[in-house]
Amino acid sequence: MSESLRPVSVCAFTDQLSPEERSIFKSLICEKISEYFDEANNLSLHGLEEEDSFFQVASIIRYLTPFHEEIPINGVAYYGRPQWMNATLLMKLQAEALDRKYQKLDRTDHFLSCGGPVADALAINSEIVDFVACHTGKVVPTGIASYLYYDFAGGGIKPHVDTEVFSINMMLMLRHQVASEGESSSTVLFPPGLPPEYYKLQVGEVMLMYGSSTIHTRTMINLSEDIHLLTIGFNRR
Ligand SMILES: [Fe+2]
Repeated sequence: MSESLRPVSVCAFTDQLSPEERSIFKSLICEKISEYFDEANNLSLHGLEEEDSFFQVASIIRYLTPFHEEIPINGVAYYGRPQWMNATLLMKLQAEALDRKYQKLDRTDHFLSCGGPVADALAINSEIVDFVACHTGKVVPTGIASYLYYDFAGGGIKPHVDTEVFSINMMLMLRHQVASEGESSSTVLFPPGLPPEYYKLQVGEVMLMYGSSTIHTRTMINLSEDIHLLTIGFNRR
């Protein structure tokens, strides 16, 4: 981040904090995120003062994230279909996601389920760890894999940053059924001081995102949508 993007006085203050204190301060700042969005997860800023305030919040969150100097400004380390995502692996993950769908654990504005044997093995696979490291630097796998389901109108996920249980989130699109492309929801990232970025992952595509650094959301799910995702967590070291 360039010096001009930093709220200097806050940075000077946080530089004096211990890692634990920085983490607590970051959690407090993150509680402000929802104030800048409407009920449909759209950024809703009224006037320059509010725009500047949101910019400062996004900048401070980024600044308080470990390794922030090495993180791309939009928080995206990779986006596309990697070679290792072959048809066989995709089919196995799709089948496991479908099976796990009926063992959903938690519902807030989306459904969550733990990974199964295929996803859990992928989360610690050395080829996958090397792939992540190639795009982010040295990483350790957390072994945490979770299937996410968005399959009801009005679902989505509120704007947030991820906790530092894992700072790098590998998101794999396994299924996205929608009646028409115009009704399709998106993953949205909010890089500090830049326009929001919208991503519509195709089935088989992967996004490597620094979810603990960049504010992100999913726009509201439409009536016709059915989305299955797998997320796998990694940490920098
Ligand atoms: Fe997230």
